[in-house]
Amino acid sequence: MNLDTSRTMPPGCVLSVQDVDKTFTLHLQGAQRLPVLRGLSFDVPRGACVVLGGESGAGKSTVLKMVFGSYGADAGRILLADGDPRDGGVLDLASAAPRRVLAARRETMGYVSQFLRAVPRVPALDVVAEPLVERGVARETARERAAELLERLSIPDRLWALPPATFSGGEQQRVNIARGFVAERPLLLLDEPTASLDARNRGVVIELVRERLARGTGMLAIFHDQDVRDAVGDAIVDVRAFTPEREAAA
Ligand SMILES: Nc1ncnc2c1ncn2[C@@H]1O[C@H](COP(=O)(O)OP(=O)(O)O)[C@@H](O)[C@H]1O
Ligand SMILES: [Mg+2]
Repeated sequence: MNLDTSRTMPPGCVLSVQDVDKTFTLHLQGAQRLPVLRGLSFDVPRGACVVLGGESGAGKSTVLKMVFGSYGADAGRILLADGDPRDGGVLDLASAAPRRVLAARRETMGYVSQFLRAVPRVPALDVVAEPLVERGVARETARERAAELLERLSIPDRLWALPPATFSGGEQQRVNIARGFVAERPLLLLDEPTASLDARNRGVVIELVRERLARGTGMLAIFHDQDVRDAVGDAIVDVRAFTPEREAAA
């Protein structure tokens, strides 16, 4: 057990990103290196929404993917308050074993990716209910909770039994949001969840975000719309402050 890491999580925070570096190696382009982030550091307090800022290509989605464990970090620590006594209550996602990352995804952090990864033949209702079923909630209970969210997000019930693969972009995005919100977890990662929604559904997402923040969920979010940022953002981390000099393309 490493007690050192637990001492470095700032009090009241669910996530602490400390001195993280990320460089992509472009294997199809002669192993050219693309440094994206250097010395990235910020904290996410419980019950607060931290918004990532910076222009397209700055590295915002890369930050979320590193926290979720989809991309590795080259250096630094990504501390998550997972409450697991085996690691003193704090897991370093930058060095954790894959099965611990999977457990953290199930229990501690949710992620609304930019695009729904549509699984063939699985009905929308079950796509949304799945994170609850994975945590041991009875399937019927999980489906009821999924139905409530789909209804709030104005997905007509005639679509619930159909796989989302053929849904419109906005419908798929709302299914993805419902799936990310269905299980309550201490940390929620949001990658442009409102990018293709109309004003009414943007309003529903703002309500959902506020409800979760009030219950203590910490959020790390990328919002394309300024009105959504203004409505729910507590702090902005501009990733450009952590962008190294880009090496000129050969
Ligand atoms: N898997 C990857 N392999 C190589 N380069 C990547 C990969 N993911 C992102 N990048 C590059 O890293 C930079 C940051 O991308 P991204 O995090 O998606 O930016 P943002 O979300 O701020 O628009 C971009 O130059 C992008 O092309
Ligand atoms: Mg992005």
